[in-house]
Amino acid sequence: MKRSLTGLQPTNFLHIGNYIGAVQPAVALQSDTQLMMMIVDYHAITMPQDPKELRKNILSAAATYLGCGIDPAKTILFQQSRVAEHMELAWILQCVAKMGEAERMTQFKDKSAKGESPTVGLFTYPILMAADILLYDTEIVPVGEDQKQHVELARDLAIRFNRDFGETFVVPEPKIRAEGARIMALDDGTKKMSKSAPSAKSYIALTDDADAIRKKIMSAVTDSGTEIRTDRNRPAITNLLTVFSVATGRSIESIELAYVGKGYGDFKKDLAEAVVEYLGPIRGRILNFAADETEIKRILAEGAEKAKGMAAFKMNKVRQRVGVTL
Ligand code: AMP
Ligand code: TRP
Repeated sequence: MKRSLTGLQPTNFLHIGNYIGAVQPAVALQSDTQLMMMIVDYHAITMPQDPKELRKNILSAAATYLGCGIDPAKTILFQQSRVAEHMELAWILQCVAKMGEAERMTQFKDKSAKGESPTVGLFTYPILMAADILLYDTEIVPVGEDQKQHVELARDLAIRFNRDFGETFVVPEPKIRAEGARIMALDDGTKKMSKSAPSAKSYIALTDDADAIRKKIMSAVTDSGTEIRTDRNRPAITNLLTVFSVATGRSIESIELAYVGKGYGDFKKDLAEAVVEYLGPIRGRILNFAADETEIKRILAEGAEKAKGMAAFKMNKVRQRVGVTL
């Protein structure tokens, strides 16, 4: 089986957009690849974090992925900071990467343009990500479009290291998720659903209960016009149709057909029930895991143990290649 690896920042909750866009595709990879899923806590601290919050967020991220269907019997779920080899390899790769290469990374440029004074960690973030990937002979890296450039850097560093020190790393391939899985805000069809939005009405959190889901969907904006039909100029109703389709597995056309001549009210009521049914079991599992911190810690410790064995093996080889092993 091919190995795939992905990393997700620990956050306190995920919304339905994260689930459809990022977590679901990772869960699907469990069946045909050996998946490694990493909670990238050391990437998270490139931006200021409250230590108490960070700890809570790591636990709730793990509960969320497990609740979403990440199966520890198949997938190595672990915390990045538990495997010190990531930092060691990141240092070596920093000595392979060129300043100009790192300076070209657009996420750093964007983030530092917004923030006051970026940390050195934010600058070297993509090199730590390259270490995450290269430590495990990763072949496939499922990511969003915004991370493609970082995976390409990992490829370049692997190729250069192999050329200069001898064959050591597998050169990874990014697997960019198909577009169309972009879920828009419920209160503005032109903006991406985001948890940093000012109003909680704009997103559906995976932990929202049935009542909250119903209220949010009933108050979702729709565009002018009455027809329930996808249309480039009517992003709000198009988005609701997308969510309906994903939640039920029905095609958008069949849903459009079912609502010909019906109003937004009926449509939204049915959509709300479809989403309640879709997320209900996931929410239940997330809350169950979240209530059992001991079990989460056990799963993460087991994942770290497995990852550590693989990483230690690779680092032995890397140290020899570099010439520091006596
Ligand atoms: P974020 O926390 O915004 O960085 O998102 C984490 C992951 O979820 C990224 O891989 C995003 O591509 C994905 N994601 C975030 N928001 C959405 C959305 N509204 N629709 C689809 N995918 C999303
Ligand atoms: N930088 C990625 C993001 O922000 C997270 C990440 C860290 C990652 N290490 C990784 C993704 C390794 C894939 C593989 O989304």
